[in-house]
Amino acid sequence: MEMKKGLKIATIGGGSSYTPELIEGFIKRYDELPIRELWLVDIEAGKEKLEIVGTLAKRMVEKAGLPMEIHLTLDRRQALQDADFVTTQMRVGLLDARIKDERIPLELGLIGQETNGAGGLSKALRTIPILLEIAEEMEELCPDAWLINFTNPAGMVTEALLRYSKHKKVIGVCNVPFNMHMSISSMLGVDMKRVHIDFAGLNHMVFGMHVFVDDQEVTDKVLEMLGNPEIQLTMKNIAPLAWNRRFLKSLGVVPCPYHRYYYKTKTILEEELEAFKSGKTRAEVVKKLEEGLFDLYKDEALDIKPPQLEQRGGAYYSDAACNVISSIYNDKKDIQVLNVQNKGSLTDIDYDSAVEVSCIVTKNGPIPLAMGKLPVQVHGLIQQIKSFERIGAEAAVTGSYDKALLALTINPLIPSDDLAEMVLQKLLKAHEEYLPRFFSESAVPN
Ligand code: G6P
Repeated sequence: MEMKKGLKIATIGGGSSYTPELIEGFIKRYDELPIRELWLVDIEAGKEKLEIVGTLAKRMVEKAGLPMEIHLTLDRRQALQDADFVTTQMRVGLLDARIKDERIPLELGLIGQETNGAGGLSKALRTIPILLEIAEEMEELCPDAWLINFTNPAGMVTEALLRYSKHKKVIGVCNVPFNMHMSISSMLGVDMKRVHIDFAGLNHMVFGMHVFVDDQEVTDKVLEMLGNPEIQLTMKNIAPLAWNRRFLKSLGVVPCPYHRYYYKTKTILEEELEAFKSGKTRAEVVKKLEEGLFDLYKDEALDIKPPQLEQRGGAYYSDAACNVISSIYNDKKDIQVLNVQNKGSLTDIDYDSAVEVSCIVTKNGPIPLAMGKLPVQVHGLIQQIKSFERIGAEAAVTGSYDKALLALTINPLIPSDDLAEMVLQKLLKAHEEYLPRFFSESAVPN
C-alpha cells in the first residue's frame, strides 16, 4: 500500500455513540497507523449526534497531541473519495427501529433480538441495500479501499456483500471473539498473548474449537470452568445465564455468549418477556444509556472515552476494527477472527459463503486458516443458520417476500410457518419507509 503521507479513513455512521471507542483505538495505535484524515459521515437525521460526538473526537485528538484531522460531513461521496479504509457502523432507522425489531417478535411470543431470529432478519432487510450502495460508491471513488463492516447483522451483511457486490475487499468485524479471548484469558489467569483459540463458525454463532495456553490444549479445563455457575462469561447485552455443566462438557467446544439464544431459548424468552412488560428491552435500555452518553459527550471538559461506554455490548469493538486495519497496513501476518469468504476454511460450508474464522491478516487482506470439518454436534446448527443468512441476504437484495418468509421459517428460533408470516408482515409494515425494495410493487400481501 502506497500511503506514506498518512491514511484517509471514512467512518459511515460517524455520529454513533461508539465513535469515541474508535477514536481511542486510532489514538492508541497512531505510531503504527498514522491517520492523516478521519472523515465521520452521517445522514441528516444524525446531524446533531455527529456534531456532538465529532467535537468530542476533536478534543480527544487534540489532547493526544496528534496531527489527525477530523472532518464531519453529511456528504458520503466526499468522505469516500480516495479513502484507504472505510468503516461502517450505522443503524438504519436508528434505535427506534431496533425497539420495533425487539418488541414486535415478543408481541407474538418470539425471541426479540437485533441479530438473531426475526429481529435479525428485519435489521438485515433495512441494512443490506444501504451497504451495497456504499460498496458500489467505493468501487467508483476508492476501489482499493477495504470495507470494514461492524453494522449488524454482520454475518448476513458480509454474506450479501460478498455475493452481490462488485467491490470484494470486504471484511466483517465483531467484538465477540475478541471478548471471548480476553475473558477466557483472564478466567485462566494468563496473559492474552499466551492464549490461542481456534475460532470457527458464523457471526454470533462462533465456537472456540480448541483453546491453548502456550503449547498445552486446555479446552476441557475451560469448559469445566465455564460450567461453574459463578463464572459466566458474557457481553453486557446478554444475560449471564449459567450453562448446564454436563451439556457444556459433552458439547466439547466453547460456545459464544449468543449461543444462549439457541441452547437456552425458553429461559431467554421468559427473561425477554419480563423486560418487554416493563419497557426494558435491550433497545429501550440502550436508548436511555445513549441519552446519558450524549449528555456526557457534550461536556467540553471531556476529552477521553468515558468509561460509561463500556456498558454497551460493543465494548472493545475498536480493538477488533483497528487491529485489522493496522495488520493490513503493516502487513503484520498476525491471527485475527474475521468474517470473510470461507474459501475452504470450513469444509462443510459453501466455498463462497461468509464465515467467522481465525485468519492471517496480510497486506493483501485476511487469509482464512483451515479449520476443517465442523464437529457433528455443531455442524447442523451452523448449517441451518448459514441457510438462513443466505436466503435472508437474497430477500434483502431482491425485496422478495417469499424469500424473507422462507428465511424466517427455517430459522430455529421461529417455531411455525404461520407465526413466521405473521411476524414478517408486522415487521415489514412497521419499517415500510426503510424497505423500498419490498414495497415498490406492493409485494406485501394484506
Ligand atoms: C455485542 C455484539 C455487537 C452488538 C452489541 C450490542 O457486542 O457483538 O454486534 O452490536 O453487542 O450492544 P448494545 O449495547 O447495543 O446492546
